Amino acid sequence: MFEHLQAKPADPILRLMQEFREDTHPLKVDLGVGVYKDEQGRTPLMQAVDRAQRILVESELTKSYIGPPGSPLFNEQITRLVLGAGLAARLQDRLAVAQTPGGCGALRMAAELIKSCQPEARVWVSDPTWANHVPLLGGAGLPLETYPYYDAETGGVRFDAMLATLEKSARAGDLLLLHGCCHNPSGADLSNQQWQEITEFCLRTGVVPFIDLAYQGLGQGLDEDAQGVRYLFDSVPEALLTSSCSKNFGLYRERTGALLVLSAKAQQTQATASELFTTIRSHYSMPPAHGAAVVETILMHTQLDELWRSELNGMRTRIQYLRQQLNQGLQARGVDRDFSFIERQQGMFSFLGISPEQVKQLRKDFSIYMVESSRINLAGLSAQNLDYVCDGLASILKE
Ligand code: LMR
Repeated sequence: MFEHLQAKPADPILRLMQEFREDTHPLKVDLGVGVYKDEQGRTPLMQAVDRAQRILVESELTKSYIGPPGSPLFNEQITRLVLGAGLAARLQDRLAVAQTPGGCGALRMAAELIKSCQPEARVWVSDPTWANHVPLLGGAGLPLETYPYYDAETGGVRFDAMLATLEKSARAGDLLLLHGCCHNPSGADLSNQQWQEITEFCLRTGVVPFIDLAYQGLGQGLDEDAQGVRYLFDSVPEALLTSSCSKNFGLYRERTGALLVLSAKAQQTQATASELFTTIRSHYSMPPAHGAAVVETILMHTQLDELWRSELNGMRTRIQYLRQQLNQGLQARGVDRDFSFIERQQGMFSFLGISPEQVKQLRKDFSIYMVESSRINLAGLSAQNLDYVCDGLASILKE
């Protein structure tokens, strides 16, 4: 049965994590996988999470099943976090929400749902997009198409080309996958004006927006990062949104996320929810409970909520500071290239814009790790390694 199998290439991001672990260089720097790191290079357990876990240990009375939709309280709280209290209340009757095993679980269940409702639908993804979008969505049998997105010249978005491609080739019922904020891998985000234009495009053409919101709070702020998404949800008849608590709650391994599905009419919501929960039941039956219990505990306790928001604020401002430091550090070394786009971009990632050979050389000569595309995780920088990284980069750029 297994004799014909050939080993598949490892996921590039996960392989990089492994190779970094095995590297014994004392000054090695990990700018690869997208996990937040503090000044000491640790991915910390957030204090709010730690306290919520202690409350749960004291108060939890059962480990019984929670059912395919997951925790209703978590679903309600995460909807408010994503959409804001007012819009969440207004759309309540049209929303089917499921707690999912991380953002990945939400993406796959969204794809399965789309496939069963609209088998001929195609999903339009940005060029480039997060590498795992391809197997997560394509694996459900949905064809993927790409639209132009990142402008390597300016570090911004090729918005005119993006809209022109979609206008020309996207059909009613196709899905338009957008990164809600902090675009992965480029860090180049849509402006509020561009979100409005996309909303108008979707309304006019019947293309259905599908939002991946994995970094809410790590760009400009929790509400600011969701502004475009909220405008869109307030306007369109149908939409899907996946949310992840991996980065903003630091709950990576607890696999905590949500899928929100907006139906055109309140009368359709029950049928949509039932299709979604049946899909979940046939895949993983129901989500793990712990991470969602932590999130709902934080969001339900005023003090924990405040603590969490201030910790998240600290993470965001640290990343913004590192963006400035990297640009200034490269300028100070007289590199003959403009890296100011790094300061204008958002979230954990930016492309350095160097070649795969230069990426390899940085790794070989300095043990500085990044994805082959030259995507770096800014949070992997720190006061300790910043000079080392700038020196390494300057030396390969000057060659
Ligand atoms: C990343 O892009 O590095 C993260 O989202 C982690 C992952 O699973 O790829």
